[in-house]
Amino acid sequence: MDDFDAHHTRERRLIMAPSTSSVITLNINGEKYTLPVDHRTTLLDALREHLDLTGTKKGCDQGQCGACTVLLDGRRTVSCLQLAVAAEGRDVTTIEGVADGDRLHPVQQAFLDLDGYQCGYCTPGQICSALAVIEEHAAGWPSAVTADVRPEAGPPPLTADEIRERMSGNLCRCGAYVSIVQAVAQAAEVQATGTEEAVA
Ligand code: FES
Ligand code: FES
Repeated sequence: MDDFDAHHTRERRLIMAPSTSSVITLNINGEKYTLPVDHRTTLLDALREHLDLTGTKKGCDQGQCGACTVLLDGRRTVSCLQLAVAAEGRDVTTIEGVADGDRLHPVQQAFLDLDGYQCGYCTPGQICSALAVIEEHAAGWPSAVTADVRPEAGPPPLTADEIRERMSGNLCRCGAYVSIVQAVAQAAEVQATGTEEAVA
């Protein structure tokens, strides 16, 4: 191969080499963020390392603890297993977007009222999961412990077993489970009745 051919072969390789990064726009908590990311960057790392949204926590980084749970188009997802590029154009809700200004969301208030956390490390993920759990239940979605899964049966009572099963993807290493179950039940009641006095 003469110099001319070698040069052009190198150029072709460069042109054909796939790009390993992209500039993406993420819609997080109602705001748009445009950022360059390596295609292998997880949504969790994009939030924490690129955008300084550190409310979402990294626990296992393997999809097993739920600490990194955020809402993607309203559905809970473990952000450590989600590529940032795959979240482009979708609505991401992190713990920073849950409160309404200074007014806590009923789920946050219930966690406070009932000591639903101790270390606080798992709490952002627990709260994001609880938000979706309450909506999924109200919409009539069954869980693995729902006895009657026929659509006409409607939502099952949100018993402690239902809450435990639906929240089972979120681990709490210091054992606040009893309070967390109570907090989810209280928040579900507040949201269903629209009044915080309902559970006072
Ligand atoms: S950090 Fe994502 S599930 Fe544990
Ligand atoms: S409150 Fe976070 S691990 Fe228990």
